[in-house]
Amino acid sequence: MSNYQELLSPVTINSWNLRNKVVMAPLTRGFANDKDGKVTEAMIAYYERRAKHGVGLIITEGINPAPEGKGTYGVPGLYTSEQTDSWKRVTEAVHKHGGTIIAQLWHVGRLSHPLLIHTTPLAPSEIGANGYVHKVRQPFQVPKAMSQKEISNTINYFRLSAQNAVKAGFDGIEIHAAHGYLIDQFINEKTNVRMDQYGGNLNHRMNFLREIINAVKEVIDSDRISIRFSEIKDDDSSYRWKNKSKTIDAFIELFEETGISILHASTNHFDEIIEETQTFHQLIRNKWNRTLIGVGSLNFQNAETAIKENLIDLAAFGRPFIANPDLVQKASSNQPIIEYEALKHLNMLY
Ligand SMILES: Cc1cc2nc3c(=O)[nH]c(=O)nc-3n(C[C@H](O)[C@H](O)[C@H](O)COP(=O)(O)O)c2cc1C
Repeated sequence: MSNYQELLSPVTINSWNLRNKVVMAPLTRGFANDKDGKVTEAMIAYYERRAKHGVGLIITEGINPAPEGKGTYGVPGLYTSEQTDSWKRVTEAVHKHGGTIIAQLWHVGRLSHPLLIHTTPLAPSEIGANGYVHKVRQPFQVPKAMSQKEISNTINYFRLSAQNAVKAGFDGIEIHAAHGYLIDQFINEKTNVRMDQYGGNLNHRMNFLREIINAVKEVIDSDRISIRFSEIKDDDSSYRWKNKSKTIDAFIELFEETGISILHASTNHFDEIIEETQTFHQLIRNKWNRTLIGVGSLNFQNAETAIKENLIDLAAFGRPFIANPDLVQKASSNQPIIEYEALKHLNMLY
């Protein structure tokens, strides 16, 4: 018998009947057709393999909701009808094996490059990031501060891609508002110095996310929307929220106001104490009793314990899923997992 009964038992989350509480975290792999953003055969087989081996919920790799959203080579899109049709084969393959799959919508904002998008990257303000563009190996450039028209246009693209996600047969979407990408650039006081309704205090800096949520809700039920948010930023490892509890309160207020019921709170270290005696997920759970997805160097044992203690409802695994398509089988049979090694596992899909 498996040691992870709670993790492996089924659960109903709104309209999703999940066969277990194991979630495949969103993982950019860069294997889509770079020219047109269509899904490739290798990607269909990759998602199908994980569904066949029993994962409860798959959150796709970050998908571009708009042409300017691309952050590296080989990222798939969901803003053209060809891209949408190409995703149908993935959702069909996952559903055939009894899985559930949602599309992560990911706009990188200033963390793009003209070599990827053929125009100046968009951002809340003209503040460049430090570092180099992923795989492009060029320094980040100073982005263009978005005009009201560009903001409205981007929100429309989020609505369009959410609608396309429904057309492609996805069970829901996840809005990527974490890790220092476009939505998070609006929320972060260091990257947003706007003077209009999208800048200023935290509540105003959340207006871009608020408007995106309200736009996608026109085309997909709110109970099928997950929001990923985080303190951590991919381009700024030293960044910390000045007041963690207050920031988390503001997020929760926004989610309650907009009728969001599924949160994917992202950290790299699930057990790390971030304020007094509390971890990120504990700070959220104090205020939030709807669905909470945990993530961050989880293993089967601490995931099992966290779910039993009602700290989280679902447990997401990232790197373990890259190295182990049969991760759920390994949990069921108490087998050791293959350790993830970037050099070995990232250069191919299997
Ligand atoms: C290769 C790789 C690609 C990733 N791509 C994404 C992504 O597209 N979207 C996202 O929100 N997080 C992304 N992440 C973060 C993971 O979803 C996850 O939060 C992180 O790996 C921590 O979980 P783990 O310790 O189980 O790997 C990525 C991580 C890795 C290692």
